[in-house]
Amino acid sequence: MVNKFLIVYYSLTGNTHLIAESIKEQTGADIERLKPIKDLNSESGTRFFWGGMHAKMKQKPKLEPLQHDPNDYDLIFLGTPVWAWTLTPPIRSYLKLHDLSSQPLAIWNCAAGNGIKAMQRLKKEIPNANIVGENTFTDPLTNDPDGEVKRAKEWAAEIINSLE
Ligand SMILES: Cc1cc2nc3c(=O)[nH]c(=O)nc-3n(C[C@H](O)[C@H](O)[C@H](O)COP(=O)(O)O)c2cc1C
Repeated sequence: MVNKFLIVYYSLTGNTHLIAESIKEQTGADIERLKPIKDLNSESGTRFFWGGMHAKMKQKPKLEPLQHDPNDYDLIFLGTPVWAWTLTPPIRSYLKLHDLSSQPLAIWNCAAGNGIKAMQRLKKEIPNANIVGENTFTDPLTNDPDGEVKRAKEWAAEIINSLE
């Protein structure tokens, strides 16, 4: 019986956060929002340059203290924005701290374009993971937020049903 869920995500400008909150509403999961101690300024015009460079360099910034131990959960939802066609540095930091191969994992990303390459790259970082679902959302805050919230909730519900 799977009944303890954890959502782990990073979000700079709120899209991945919207999906995380939707999954939380649907499932009652606990939430771990990753925050680098030194994060980019989400308003700054240089964020694409610096964020893209940090992502390409596979940086792993130091995170603010985590609140939850993923080993206490039966299913983890892991979400990242796409930066430079790959996962974001805070997610790399998290994956270095925690091996997510011991419980089912559902992954999503948020992209302005498509998240395909970034999804492949994320999966390469967690080769032993038991991935039970994956999904991409295209800037859901600006592209049909109500529809995307509904899609995220249905996706989360489907995954949980498939495990029961
Ligand atoms: C530094 C940076 C790099 C990005 N690189 C890409 C990219 O390579 N491909 C893409 O489709 N979107 C890219 N985007 C857009 C974001 O992935 C997209 O807007 C996402 O929804 C943002 O999620 P967030 O609001 O949770 O931070 C980039 C955004 C930033 C800030």
